[in-house]
Amino acid sequence: MSWPPACSPTRTSTRSCGGSCSTPTTTCAGPWLRASDLLTGFPPLLSLYGGGGVEWSEDVRNQRLESLGQLAGGVAHDFNNILGVIVNYASFVVEEAESEQPDVRMIASDARQVVRATERATHLTHQLLAFARREVVRPQLLDLNALIAGLEPRLRETAGAGVTLLARPGPDVPPVVCDPGRIEQMLVNLAQNARDAMPAGGNLVIDTGGHHDRVRLRVCDSGRGMTAEVADRAFEPFFTTKASGDGIGLGLAMVYGIVTQAGGEVSLTSEPGLGTTVTVLLPAAPPSSVADMSSSVPGAVPTGGHGETLLVVDDEAGLRDVAGRILSGAGYRVISAEGGVEALAIASRHDGAIDLLLSDVVMPGMLGKDLAERLVVARPDTRVLYMSGYAQPVLHSQGTLDPGVALLEKPFTADDLLTAVRRRLDG
Ligand SMILES: Nc1ncnc2c1ncn2[C@@H]1O[C@H](COP(=O)(O)OP(=O)(O)O)[C@@H](O)[C@H]1O
Ligand SMILES: [Mg+2]
Repeated sequence: MSWPPACSPTRTSTRSCGGSCSTPTTTCAGPWLRASDLLTGFPPLLSLYGGGGVEWSEDVRNQRLESLGQLAGGVAHDFNNILGVIVNYASFVVEEAESEQPDVRMIASDARQVVRATERATHLTHQLLAFARREVVRPQLLDLNALIAGLEPRLRETAGAGVTLLARPGPDVPPVVCDPGRIEQMLVNLAQNARDAMPAGGNLVIDTGGHHDRVRLRVCDSGRGMTAEVADRAFEPFFTTKASGDGIGLGLAMVYGIVTQAGGEVSLTSEPGLGTTVTVLLPAAPPSSVADMSSSVPGAVPTGGHGETLLVVDDEAGLRDVAGRILSGAGYRVISAEGGVEALAIASRHDGAIDLLLSDVVMPGMLGKDLAERLVVARPDTRVLYMSGYAQPVLHSQGTLDPGVALLEKPFTADDLLTAVRRRLDG
């Protein structure tokens, strides 16, 4: 059979969607499976997006609980592994530091393991938030062909030496409005899956094209393909057919989240032994946005303070402590509070200026947003910087921030924090 596989009817099964789902919109005939269909036909997952007001039957309720249980189990499993690494290396550090003759190199090396483990945990939470469409996105006007061209070396490296990567940029592909980081992440995830599907090598073709008022991006591999059963579940979070350690089943779930958050749709077709094609359709940028969106990336800024006063508000004591240490170490004066009520009381008693409010977003009692609004009434010169690991309350439905809102994502490093604070004070 010729390759790349023509988009022929495949063994991929279609789900019945209770008559509510539209037919696939791709140019290829055949029973395509779209993630959105999967979710419509799959109430357990649909309910993750707040399918409230629907009367679920006993059966559906059980499926839904089963599905949530699977998600919770997946998160718990991966976090427990990471926590196992952290708790043990951290204990080694304490033990060694308290020994007669502490070996500082060993302490440093063990502490680095802790840092590495937390980086893995951060990656995991970002994957989950991306799937759940609760990740902060910073969309800009994007030329997909240019993005793919720039990403080719990384994709090649991801796909591995045995895989031939062919980029086939289509002509006249209109720009899209997307967060470039998310689109890159999506392509890397798809390249990883292609690599895993072609252990003995093969071809990976990425092509683009204009498609009415949408842009089509296709990632096609000549790998082992999927059975209908696997294709059916491929977009589910934590669904994997790979050995533990090779995959955790969040790759396609994340692709689904990224694409739908950007207002697009994703589908896949696959044939065992022949290959897999993932097709993404993204809305083309409306002509008006082409004029007024800049894609400027802020350059490096100097960090460090000159005695400015910062009010740090977070209900997590450890985080207040960490932020306080980093900021006072860098030359800021730090006052802190564990919540909105306390912060407002402190601010009303405080004599001098408060240059910046650094506040958590989701806190018991008062949301960061309400605290900021009230504080700024009394102190109009105070700047506001939010920090959050789950910024939903300050995000629009598409995951974007209001133009005036600045947000630092948790977990942050000292560098991230100092850069964001300086930028907010100077901006
Ligand atoms: N390109 C592909 N070829 C064959 N199977 C795939 C491909 N992409 C995904 N799959 C199947 O879908 C499952 C879920 O994929 P994914 O969500 O990326 O999680 P993971 O790669 O961690 O298993 C994989 O375990 C695999 O069985
Ligand atoms: Mg994967």
